[in-house]
Amino acid sequence: MASAQATPYQRLGGDAKVRELVRRFYDLMEAEPAYAGIRKLHQPDLSQAREKLYLFLSGWLGGPQLYAERFGHPMLRARHLAFAIGAAERDLWLACMSRAMEDAGIDENLRRSLHDAFFKTGDWMRNQANGRE
Ligand code: HEM
Repeated sequence: MASAQATPYQRLGGDAKVRELVRRFYDLMEAEPAYAGIRKLHQPDLSQAREKLYLFLSGWLGGPQLYAERFGHPMLRARHLAFAIGAAERDLWLACMSRAMEDAGIDENLRRSLHDAFFKTGDWMRNQANGRE
């Protein structure tokens, strides 16, 4: 049951829902031309990105620290330095994630607070000035 102490992971519905969210996020990224600007930064095969985002989000949302157990500290900003990420790419990532959260039927209040948290993390990954920031 949701309580003031519940983590986002618990409010979301745990492991199965994190998997569903990540599946939907990358399915959308693969299918929708609107997200081509970030799809092209990824490997042709998205299976590793799918697995790693799922492992990472589990811990990031307050659940089991699956990513850290396997790979140690994520060093997320450093890992993203290999990709040119400006405001445009950040906003595409967030738009794709917002749609994935809606499609996964996540409660609106939770969606709003996760969107703010994703924005902060996404904005921190920005390593290019390409306007609109
Ligand atoms: C701001 C826009 C973002 C862009 C354009 C972006 C792009 C990418 C790309 C291209 C990869 C490599 C995937 C591959 O090898 O095919 C990646 C990996 C990853 N991204 Fe992002 N990302 C963004 C934001 C985020 C955010 C907000 C999170 C977490 C909340 C995140 C979590 C991850 C993780 C966990 C990985 C795997 C890292 C590893 O290799 O261990 N990314 N991202």
